[in-house]
Amino acid sequence: MTPSDPVIRLENVYTAYEGADRPTLTDISLSIGKGEFVVIGGPNGAGKTTLLETINGMLAITHGKAIVCGQDVRGDGVQVRCRVGYLLQNFAFDPLTPFTVEEVVLMGCYGTIGLFRKPRTEDYVEVKKALHLLGIEDLATRPIGQLSGGQQQKVLMAQNLARNPEVLLLDEPFSNLDMFAREEINRLLARLVGSGITVLIVSHAFDDLPDRPVRVVVMQEGKIVVSRECPPKEVEQVVRSAGKGALHA
Ligand SMILES: Nc1ncnc2c1ncn2[C@@H]1O[C@H](COP(=O)(O)OP(=O)(O)O)[C@@H](O)[C@H]1O
Ligand SMILES: [Mg+2]
Repeated sequence: MTPSDPVIRLENVYTAYEGADRPTLTDISLSIGKGEFVVIGGPNGAGKTTLLETINGMLAITHGKAIVCGQDVRGDGVQVRCRVGYLLQNFAFDPLTPFTVEEVVLMGCYGTIGLFRKPRTEDYVEVKKALHLLGIEDLATRPIGQLSGGQQQKVLMAQNLARNPEVLLLDEPFSNLDMFAREEINRLLARLVGSGITVLIVSHAFDDLPDRPVRVVVMQEGKIVVSRECPPKEVEQVVRSAGKGALHA
């Protein structure tokens, strides 16, 4: 991969869930450069989560080409997932989950540690750094299942950062967060993007976006209907206008 190559390149991609008789995503083409901040909008069921799962190599691509971090997603999803962080939508731990926050964050390093190797000193350093970035060092020894939804979301974000991802996929990360936590996470995202990480975020909350150009991608019925760069203040308007277009179509 040369520096000018996009970090994510999808060409005419179709994606189908197992057992489905037709593809959920149809004819998706998207090119995202290193350090871009991408906001994905669109109504429920439009295919936003499916798009993130496609980029992360979790779904069958039935047609088209998908290259992420220089790897062919159709060929080596595992290699892609080592370099991509993915925060799932609406994920919650069972109250009896037998792991502490520190252990959950350490699991983020497994892609680089290897599943059955002992964690190295540098892995614990990454864990500490990630807990610090999210401001949750004080939760390190708490059982994960006993934390609030918002606290769990921060822990999962730390878990993703602990592996030093090149790309970060965030599926509605603000859903459980109060406004202070949202502002904090947005500030953190601005720093991550500034350091060269490519961030794709599915969200319905467009306040306090990082003060930098944003690429807005709007999805409807499994297709991308808008993909363009705009200032952060205009994101909501772009998503709204695309939605109105659909209602009147
Ligand atoms: N596991 C699944 N199996 C089959 N169809 C699914 C699955 N998950 C989602 N879908 C369907 O794919 C479409 C897009 O869903 P999704 O990507 O979750 O939408 P969004 O994230 O935009 O709300 C919806 O029609 C949904 O019903
Ligand atoms: Mg979704």
